[in-house]
Amino acid sequence: MKIALLGKGKTGSKVLENKIHQIFAFDSKNPPTFERLETFDVIISFLPGDAFKSYIPLLVETKLPVVIGSTGLEWPANLDQTLKDRKLSWIYATNFSLGVAVVKQMLNKLSHAQNFFPNHKTSIHEIHHTHKKDAPSGTALSMEEWMHEKCSITSERTADVIGFHELTFDTGYEKIKLSHEALDRKLFADGAIWAAEYLFKNKNPGLNSFQEIIERTL
Ligand SMILES: NC(=O)c1ccc[n+]([C@@H]2O[C@H](COP(=O)([O-])OP(=O)(O)OC[C@H]3O[C@@H](n4cnc5c(N)ncnc54)[C@H](OP(=O)(O)O)[C@@H]3O)[C@@H](O)[C@H]2O)c1
Repeated sequence: MKIALLGKGKTGSKVLENKIHQIFAFDSKNPPTFERLETFDVIISFLPGDAFKSYIPLLVETKLPVVIGSTGLEWPANLDQTLKDRKLSWIYATNFSLGVAVVKQMLNKLSHAQNFFPNHKTSIHEIHHTHKKDAPSGTALSMEEWMHEKCSITSERTADVIGFHELTFDTGYEKIKLSHEALDRKLFADGAIWAAEYLFKNKNPGLNSFQEIIERTL
């Protein structure tokens, strides 16, 4: 499979370590163009969110499947429909960790227990390295969405922390805590490559969530 990798920074460089596929990386000095992208089978983005957003029209034009790890962007409102109309399959994740896919299932269970605890409060604390541009993290926002309720989210930027998320469900009389810690960015790269292989073999027109695809595959 020929992969066009957009962004070869802290996370993209881990995708480049893959030895199974042919991977070529683009960055600011070597930006992607239609002519250069059209020779690839699939595109993976680990660009910052604003940079990724600026390339969306170009990526749609290539008609290639796209795997998006970029966070901190607002999706254009009509993107899902545009992709469906053109039969283009994209997968996005704020966190490509398979462990976080399991966390999502646990939060789904917890969200169903909310009615037992009318006075509960849910909070999320996330910690990342000091270079991270967006706050709160995309993963923290996803966790809030998976709980189907407003959560109080706090962010901390320290040293070179790859990614730590902890959700606390406080009923007033007891606390349930669920935390996830990423230890190596390779796990995000592996999840994104898994998604690229999936799109190479399967068509799923629209903007698909990685976690939903995983749940369907489990
Ligand atoms: N979904 C997940 O599982 C996951 C996991 C980790 C990180 N992320 C997200 O992935 C994104 C990248 O994170 P990172 O820590 O790897 O960032 P990073 O180390 O800053 O790397 C960003 C890369 O993007 C390139 N770039 C920036 N603007 C560009 C432009 N306009 N055109 C072409 N290339 C451009 C940079 O190239 P230059 O150096 O040449 O500018 C660099 O190679 C962030 O949004 C982060 O939150 C997602």
